[in-house]
Amino acid sequence: MKRLMTVLAVIAGVIMVVAGVAVPRLALAQDGDGAHAAESAAGAESAAGAEGAAEGGDNPAAWGAALYATYCQACHGPQGESIGSGPAFSAVTYDPDTAHDVIAHGVDSDPADAIAMPAYGEAAGGVLDDEQIEQITAYMATWGTGETPPLPEPNLEHPEPGAVIYAKTCYGCHGDQGAGYDTPTFPAFEPDDHTRRVVQDGHESITVPAFGVEQGGPLSDSDIDALDVYLASWQAEGDHDAADEEDSGSAQGLNAVLVLVGVIAILTVGGVYMMRSRSSE
Ligand code: HEC
Ligand code: HEC
Repeated sequence: MKRLMTVLAVIAGVIMVVAGVAVPRLALAQDGDGAHAAESAAGAESAAGAEGAAEGGDNPAAWGAALYATYCQACHGPQGESIGSGPAFSAVTYDPDTAHDVIAHGVDSDPADAIAMPAYGEAAGGVLDDEQIEQITAYMATWGTGETPPLPEPNLEHPEPGAVIYAKTCYGCHGDQGAGYDTPTFPAFEPDDHTRRVVQDGHESITVPAFGVEQGGPLSDSDIDALDVYLASWQAEGDHDAADEEDSGSAQGLNAVLVLVGVIAILTVGGVYMMRSRSSE
């Protein structure tokens, strides 16, 4: 009977050690899932067209509307109308002979105006495949027909004004929280002291327009204020992540204690067992 108790105690000790080692693994796996969930939520947040695209069915123009909302309305407005006086924001029309080519390869017909249409085709370092470009041209082709599908609103969990402006104006080139798409035309950026000036006045790169209303862009000072508030919230989220890491640090401390207690339990029970068996000899 005593022997059975001892064996059970040893088993309990072993379980504690195993738990102490395994729990941090579990915690890590969960952390990973958490990060993943946050990522896809963020993706849904800024993907200006996600919802509309899901409802696109087999109507290419509806898919195109979602893509156009994400990538094109920043400069060309919802239906190619002028949304500012600057050269990047003048009206565009749909021309079936050139549209696909212009979207895939970009265009710079007036080098003097210091702004060019970026190339969106994958082959030219862009983010759209051929089928997506065809969906966009199918959407543009509806402009004159009276059957233009509505542009989906950004699918945002927290649709505060700055987030909406980011989704409609910046996301198409800079992706989720400025992570970019790994190409020079669609690069990553981190908000800093210069960000406001870049947004307002543009950048020396000829594919980066000045969005400020004083430079002929569509964003008023209060729009840019709202955008600043939204960009600052990325920093706050970063701080949260750091706090989470500290939490998992203390969880690891707890696990070390579990392992230690388990080892002590095994040694104690083992020692007592050996002493008993000696004294009974
Ligand atoms: C950075 C602002 C910007 C974005 C974003 C942008 N364009 Fe343009 N687009 C321009 C500029 C600037 C021109 C004129 C370039 C030139 O001729 O020098 C232009 C020209 C065009 C033209 C040819 C002009 C015309 O009147 O026919 C088409 C078509 C066009 N864009 C479609 C698109 C589509 C579709 C998208 C989204 C995939 C898009 N653009 C995204 C800035 C932009
Ligand atoms: C047509 C694509 C396009 C759009 C739309 C766009 N950007 Fe950019 N942005 C770029 C490119 C390309 C660069 C890098 C230029 C270079 O370094 O040559 C850039 C650079 C920047 C920089 C400077 C990064 C650095 O470290 O120098 C900031 C900040 C920035 N963008 C913020 C924004 C914000 C905020 C918006 C929305 C209001 C926006 N951009 C819209 C393409 C775009």
